[in-house]
Amino acid sequence: MKLQGKVAIVTGGAQGLGRGFAQGLLGKGAKVCICDVNSTTGQATLAAWNKQFGKGNSMFLRCDVTDHDQFEGVIKKVIKEFGGLDILVNNAGVNGEEPETWRRTIQINLIGMIEGTRLAETYMDKSAGGRGGLVVNIASTAGLVPMFHGPVYSGSKYGVVGYTTSMAADPKTLETGVSYATLCPAFTATELFEESHETLLNNNTGLDLAAKQITDAGIQTVADVVNGFLQLVEADDNNGFVMAVSKQKGIQYVHRRPRKPRANKL
Ligand SMILES: NC(=O)c1ccc[n+]([C@@H]2O[C@H](COP(=O)([O-])OP(=O)(O)OC[C@H]3O[C@@H](n4cnc5c(N)ncnc54)[C@H](O)[C@@H]3O)[C@@H](O)[C@H]2O)c1
Repeated sequence: MKLQGKVAIVTGGAQGLGRGFAQGLLGKGAKVCICDVNSTTGQATLAAWNKQFGKGNSMFLRCDVTDHDQFEGVIKKVIKEFGGLDILVNNAGVNGEEPETWRRTIQINLIGMIEGTRLAETYMDKSAGGRGGLVVNIASTAGLVPMFHGPVYSGSKYGVVGYTTSMAADPKTLETGVSYATLCPAFTATELFEESHETLLNNNTGLDLAAKQITDAGIQTVADVVNGFLQLVEADDNNGFVMAVSKQKGIQYVHRRPRKPRANKL
């Protein structure tokens, strides 16, 4: 997809990878709305972009992606202010494995992502007044290989991969004009990674194995992942693509399916 003049929403875009994806899109001439639960950081990011990209090209809206009405409100506001919607990046995510946090991990990483995807389909559907578009769901390499030190997180991300590739395989994408792609970053230097790493260091079980998994994959920068993200988004026919990005192996296509949807053999 050519990005000049396109309109995008990036969830969890106040900081980290989401901020990087949004900035990459702005740099290519798209208009971008970031939504996030963190208003202070979201507003600070917006102020920086107003200087860098000029006022009127970006927007911050407070939104919890697990709240259907708030999420739909963001999409309606973006369509009204920016004239349409072409790209939704479901990026908001957390990593909590404790008795009091694991349900929220599923709620945000999996249910929030499904919420956004369903809403995007409704508003982008060419056969229902939309102009088609692209949904990019941010999974993780923990959605492709097991991560024993984060089973709930890994389970949520396997869910992102399974859900997104299933949406892409539906023959109705040809009528709706909506494509679905999955991005699976490996360990990336952000707040989420730092916090997860700290929790891991405080929990000695399997520490050596976990440290080895991190050392083997390496820790990449947000810019490394944004390079892959832009390549994925700019590809002409990216429905069903699953891309992994890691420090050690760089950009890899795990699936590069042809456009024609088909019933996969189980
Ligand atoms: N950093 C990594 O190593 C890594 C690797 C693979 C995948 N990912 C995925 O990338 C995505 C971004 O992670 P990050 O590392 O940039 O984390 P981060 O913590 O730096 O940023 C996440 C953002 O999401 C926002 N957020 C959290 N809950 C939200 C909610 N309910 N509604 C709206 N916004 C919410 C946070 O306020 C924050 O701004 C996540 O889905 C994460 O699972 C990260």
